[in-house]
Amino acid sequence: MSATTDPLRLDEDLQARLRRAARAVVLSGAGVSRESGLDTFRGAGGLWENQRPEDLATPEAFYRAPGQVWRWYAWRYARAAAAAPNPAHLALVRWESLFPSFLLVTQNVDDLHQRAGSRRLVALHGTVAAAVCDACGRRRAMAEAVAASPDEPPACGAAGCGGRFRPAVVWFGENLPAAALAQAAEAAASCDLLVSVGTSSLVYPAAGLIETALRRGARVIEVNPEPTPFSPRVHLRLAAPAGEALPALTEAIERCRSMPG
Ligand code: OAD
Repeated sequence: MSATTDPLRLDEDLQARLRRAARAVVLSGAGVSRESGLDTFRGAGGLWENQRPEDLATPEAFYRAPGQVWRWYAWRYARAAAAAPNPAHLALVRWESLFPSFLLVTQNVDDLHQRAGSRRLVALHGTVAAAVCDACGRRRAMAEAVAASPDEPPACGAAGCGGRFRPAVVWFGENLPAAALAQAAEAAASCDLLVSVGTSSLVYPAAGLIETALRRGARVIEVNPEPTPFSPRVHLRLAAPAGEALPALTEAIERCRSMPG
């Protein structure tokens, strides 16, 4: 049964809280881009089914086998660039005008939220659309870097810099961008409503934002066809694809918020 055919079962307490919520946070993961044709990491058919994160998504992998890592991110960039936002990305753009304070925290590096039009957003794990010098931090477009050097990470080339370009993503074992993480943590700690969508909620610190919101008494809604470790604790679970459940949830919130009182 899908969320669009099965009316969302919002109890009265949740409806009242959705009507009054002043501060909302959405945490998104790879599942939100599944209906745009991009792969998730975990689960059947996921990117980590036949390859290991240790071989592709760590600094050690990059220094051991730079060409292999570069080509994998060039491929992921090409897939992301060819994909288009789906109804889940588009629904979330409307949330910016639904709540006085709203923050979309994404673990995705595909830029589909940004291309859909989301602006109040922090990208915790960076972007595949940019490359950054591993020595001086200079950035350039991934498209340009891959065109110049499709098989190996290109040298930085700035005067006096011996570095080379790497994808502008956060790898396992690396720190998340401090300002982005602080903004996300502050938003999760002070929100009335947190919606997690399309994330297995297994990777920290991102998954810790759900824990924070629950502890602080926010209402938490999970959108995911499969259960996650947080499923037993959330206030509402929508076990449906994000492209169906998020437009339905958005309409339900719009209805709640247009009601008097
Ligand atoms: P995962 O691949 O771990 O989880 C994706 C989730 O999306 C799963 O729980 C699926 O059940 C769910 N899902 C699948 N299709 C869906 C759909 N149509 N609608 C809604 N949900 C759907 O992806 P993340 O949680 O984003 O990090 O993974 C977190 C981090 O681990 C990633 O940012 C990446 C990865 O390794 C790095 O590479 C550092």
